[in-house]
Amino acid sequence: QKGGYDSFMAKEIHEQASAVADTLRGRLDDGSLQLDEMDIDPSVLRSVDKIVVVACGTAANAGEVAKYAIEHWCRIPTEVELAHEFRYRDPVVTEKTLVVAISQSGETMDTLMAVRHAREQGAKVIAICNTRGSTIPRESDAALYLHVGPEIAVASTKAYLGQITACYLLGLFLAQTRGNLYPDEISALMEDLERIPEHIQQVLDASGQVEKLAQDMKDVSSVLFLGRHVGYPTAMEGALKLKEIAYIHAEGFAAGELKHGPIALVEEGQPVFVIVPSPNGRHSLHSKVVSNIQEVRARGARTLVIAEEGDDAVLPYADEVIRVPATRTLFAALLTVIPLQIFSCELATAKGLDVDQPRNLAKSVTVE
Ligand code: BG6
Repeated sequence: QKGGYDSFMAKEIHEQASAVADTLRGRLDDGSLQLDEMDIDPSVLRSVDKIVVVACGTAANAGEVAKYAIEHWCRIPTEVELAHEFRYRDPVVTEKTLVVAISQSGETMDTLMAVRHAREQGAKVIAICNTRGSTIPRESDAALYLHVGPEIAVASTKAYLGQITACYLLGLFLAQTRGNLYPDEISALMEDLERIPEHIQQVLDASGQVEKLAQDMKDVSSVLFLGRHVGYPTAMEGALKLKEIAYIHAEGFAAGELKHGPIALVEEGQPVFVIVPSPNGRHSLHSKVVSNIQEVRARGARTLVIAEEGDDAVLPYADEVIRVPATRTLFAALLTVIPLQIFSCELATAKGLDVDQPRNLAKSVTVE
């Protein structure tokens, strides 16, 4: 059942190239993007003036990536809110608000209650889910399914990549419907997205380096994660995975926030993962993150750097460089998280923990 892997989590991590390919499959009909189920009039989508993404846990980190993509492509103000906070703070929701509910199981009660609240206020809801026929897509106006197959391990991996991919598809679908991008721009983005499964496989094929690192680090008591732009949610997700399955204190930060507080935590030997954006994207973003690596290293941190192939600017300040193939800045979220998933999975395995059934957690939490 585990296909020769130590855990379902390891198996699911290694299925991610095909998972993303499955999320992408069959979306283009005559060059035009389609969702699975859509009961929202295009004129309603054209009038949307705000998007609120509601989700919990890993799905909320996928939502943070969505925010960068949707605002960039569609110019619609987008917020991400933890589903359990949304309803209780009397949020501003109108008929022009589009709520995007992300949930692997489609049964998370906190997310379901947020969906119900949004619809009571007249908002339209699009569900991004993995489990067909589950409650959240049934109670939504439209659904986009991940098609990544069942996820058994409590800690989400392939569903996370599927969720991010589905969010990109939604962003491009909205841009298509609203005319924010030209058809040839959408085609170029889809072409690059379709190349991602191949890049994922390259990252997976190199997993030995990170596995060894995790085994060597199995006794660490705290790990920090830094990133900017979509590297920020990646840092949050890397920290969440380590807490969930290895029970290690871990925190993810926006790298720009470092000097406003977290840098005080850095002392001799503190492991810090840094997710470096592409040097070919916005250049200032890349050089700022490289400076952050320098800053934490100068204070004694052990720097574990995830950087694009050929990015040599990181070399003088990195204790370990983990390479990912080059892609667009936005799409790197589908690659840079993989070494972090492998790190947590391998470290928890090396500690002899139950990777698939971590203490105190459930795959789907159906109570508020
Ligand atoms: C938590 C799970 O309880 O729910 C997490 O332990 C998951 O792994 C979160 O990310 C959200 O679940 P879902 O099914 O709504 O995506």
